[in-house]
Amino acid sequence: MAEKDIHYYEPANGHGLKHDPFNAIVAPRPIGWISSRDARGNINLAPYSFFNAFCYKPPIVGFSSTSWKDSVSNIQEAKEFCWNLAIMDLAKQMNATSAHVAHDVNEFTIGNPEQDRQGAARGGESGVVRMQAFGDRSAQARGRRKS
Ligand SMILES: Cc1cc2nc3c(=O)[nH]c(=O)nc-3n(C[C@H](O)[C@H](O)[C@H](O)COP(=O)(O)O)c2cc1C
Repeated sequence: MAEKDIHYYEPANGHGLKHDPFNAIVAPRPIGWISSRDARGNINLAPYSFFNAFCYKPPIVGFSSTSWKDSVSNIQEAKEFCWNLAIMDLAKQMNATSAHVAHDVNEFTIGNPEQDRQGAARGGESGVVRMQAFGDRSAQARGRRKS
């Protein structure tokens, strides 16, 4: 590869490109349509693309959030969440549930994805695959700052 084809950047200084290469390079990513509820029973549903399976045995799934969002605080409280696979047919509904709304708004009412049949409402029947995760291990990462 000729040297002119190499693009190097320090994330802290910006990439200088039209689109952020980090998102583009680590792709495609599965979309985890994360449903959760807080200790008072408020239900939440939101898409997270920084999601993946990290271990086969024991099966471990996880996702990351760019800030302390409702999904994160709910899972900290309830120690459980569901991951629903958002298939292409559901892309519009999935996008709609990423809206910034008040904590007590149930995003299952936005875009109208189906809710869990048992009324447990932590799953959602909309995805073709649904994984229920118990327990939580959360970690807050801090970037290396330039002095
Ligand atoms: C396709 C898609 C993927 C997303 N992936 C992420 C992600 O990986 N991390 C993140 O912090 N936000 C992501 N978002 C934005 C969140 O869904 C959005 O901030 C949402 O309001 C968070 O909801 P909550 O506060 O109920 O958890 C994504 C949005 C869309 C539409």
